[in-house]
Formats: sequence, C-alpha cells, structure tokens
Amino acid sequence: MAKKRRVPPIPEELPPCDGPKLSLFEHHDSKIEWLERLGNGEESTRDGYVFRVKIKRAEYAIKVFKFYDPMESEYFWEPLIGEVSLHTAAYYTDPFYAECRAYGRIREATKRRPKISDAATRCYGFLFLSEKDQKYLEEKKCDLGLAKVDLAYQRQTAGGVRPRAIVKSLASSDHGVTELDLKKILDRILVLNRERIYNMDIRLDNIKDGKLVDFGSSWTEPHILLHALDAGTAYSYRTTDRVMFDEMLEDENIPNPKNIVAIHSMTLRPRYN
Ligand SMILES: Nc1ncnc2c1ncn2[C@@H]1O[C@H](COP(=O)(O)OP(=O)(O)OP(=O)(O)O)[C@@H](O)[C@H]1O
Ligand SMILES: [Mg+2]
Repeated sequence: MAKKRRVPPIPEELPPCDGPKLSLFEHHDSKIEWLERLGNGEESTRDGYVFRVKIKRAEYAIKVFKFYDPMESEYFWEPLIGEVSLHTAAYYTDPFYAECRAYGRIREATKRRPKISDAATRCYGFLFLSEKDQKYLEEKKCDLGLAKVDLAYQRQTAGGVRPRAIVKSLASSDHGVTELDLKKILDRILVLNRERIYNMDIRLDNIKDGKLVDFGSSWTEPHILLHALDAGTAYSYRTTDRVMFDEMLEDENIPNPKNIVAIHSMTLRPRYN
C-alpha cells in the first residue's frame, strides 16, 4: 500500500520565534471566491499577488506570498548572525513573516495604544491556500516560485508547499496622502516606530486611505538582524521610515504648505558601512 505523506498540523500562530505573532484567520477553512487582482507593481520586486476576494459573504483583500528560500539572502544574514537554522533566517527575512510579525505587534499594542489600529489597513490573520485556490492562481499566471526553492526545505516549513496568504480589509485605490493629512500620516508612522515596527518601504503605492498596507519589508523588534548591527547602522534602520516619508513628499511633489518634516537633517547620523 502506498505510504501517505504526513500532513503537518496548521499552526494557530506564526512565526514560532521570539516576538510578536499573527493568528490563523478564523475562516481559514471557508471557500474563497476570487473576484479580481489588485495593484499593478513590478513583477520582479513583488512579494506576491493581491486579490479582492469574498469569504463567507464579506469582501477582503488577500495577499498571496511567493515561496521564499532563505539561501537567497544568505549573503546578507550570514555575516550578521552566522550559522542559524534556515527556518530562523526566514523568520527575519521572508516578507510573509515580516507581515506576520508587524501585524502581530499592532494587535498586541492596540490595547495600550488604541491609535495604532489607524496606522495600518486592518489584518485578519494568515491562511494556507487549498489546491483549488492554487489552480485558480495558476490560471491567472501568478507564479509563486515553487520551482525555484529547495523542496526538501519547503516541506519542513509551516504550511509546506501550500501557498501562504494574509487576509486584510479591502481598502480603496486612493493613497489618501494629501496636504490636509500629512501630519496625521506622519503621526501614524511614528506610532508604529514607537512600537518598534519599522516599515522600511514608505511609498505612495504602499499607502491606502492614509494607512500603511504593505509590511513585507518591515522589521519588528525583537529582531535578530537589527540587534546584530552596530549602533550607527541600527540607528539608520530605525530612522528609515522618517527619511522615506520626507523623500516621498518631495519625489511625489505633494503640496506641504505647513512644512511637515519627519526628520531634520541635523539629527541624521551617517550610515556606517
Ligand atoms: N488591503 C488592500 N486593499 C486594497 N488594495 C490593496 C490592499 N493590499 C494591497 N493592495 C494593492 O495591491 C498592491 C500591492 O500590495 P502590496 O504592496 O502589499 O504588495 P507587494 O508585493 O509589496 O507589491 P509591490 O511590490 O507592488 O509593493 C498595493 O500597492 C495596492 O495597490
Ligand atoms: Mg508594496
């Protein structure tokens, strides 16, 4: 008789390392009705694919993440943290886990700092996609890169070869970054930073209705890579969001009559390489 492959149990929360975690989406077993693809970013830089979906009669946005091989970023993490398991390296470098950790912290922090829930598009948890959902993505030519990862490693990860996805509220297509709201949006970024979440990708494309929607590049403390950096470099990582906010206003020519500035150049310390 053919031996059946053991299916690993679905974790209740991820990732299993120090720090914040995201919970499994409550309707993770329910049928997903795929409605349309959202966003139009460049294929090569993308963490995955975002869709408008319906689950149990409610609409959401689902971000489906590409598979991630931590060996691809070994050049970056190995000099800092040395020989750690590939799973540990992934918890701190894979965009899927970056979102889990950031949204996990937002959930924890909401009790002591209710304002933080306005800073990001609401997140409802993670799930793993079924075979039927995978077929739909294949039909839509969404390549999740399974052929590029080491299958032996992938099978040992949470979810194995099932694609990982994060469920969020559906936002409008408007970034909402206007003259009137600049101070409010900067305050939201600062609230996240105060909770030791660094988004690291502050751009108009990643803001919807004045809230951050993309945490795929974020670092949330405790973070083994951030803690392994020298003090000067760690400082520049922690100030990245503020630098990017100012650059965004300038690059996008957003009117700023009140001269809202996130970081004054005098307070910037040089990057140490
Ligand atoms: N919750 C949401 N509601 C509405 N639109 C969304 C939502 N999440 C993402 N999008 C759309 O999908 C795009 C891509 O989402 P996101 O930035 O999270 O993914 P990404 O893989 O980092 O893509 P990119 O490389 O284009 O930034 C967003 O710029 C936005 O237009
Ligand atoms: Mg993005």
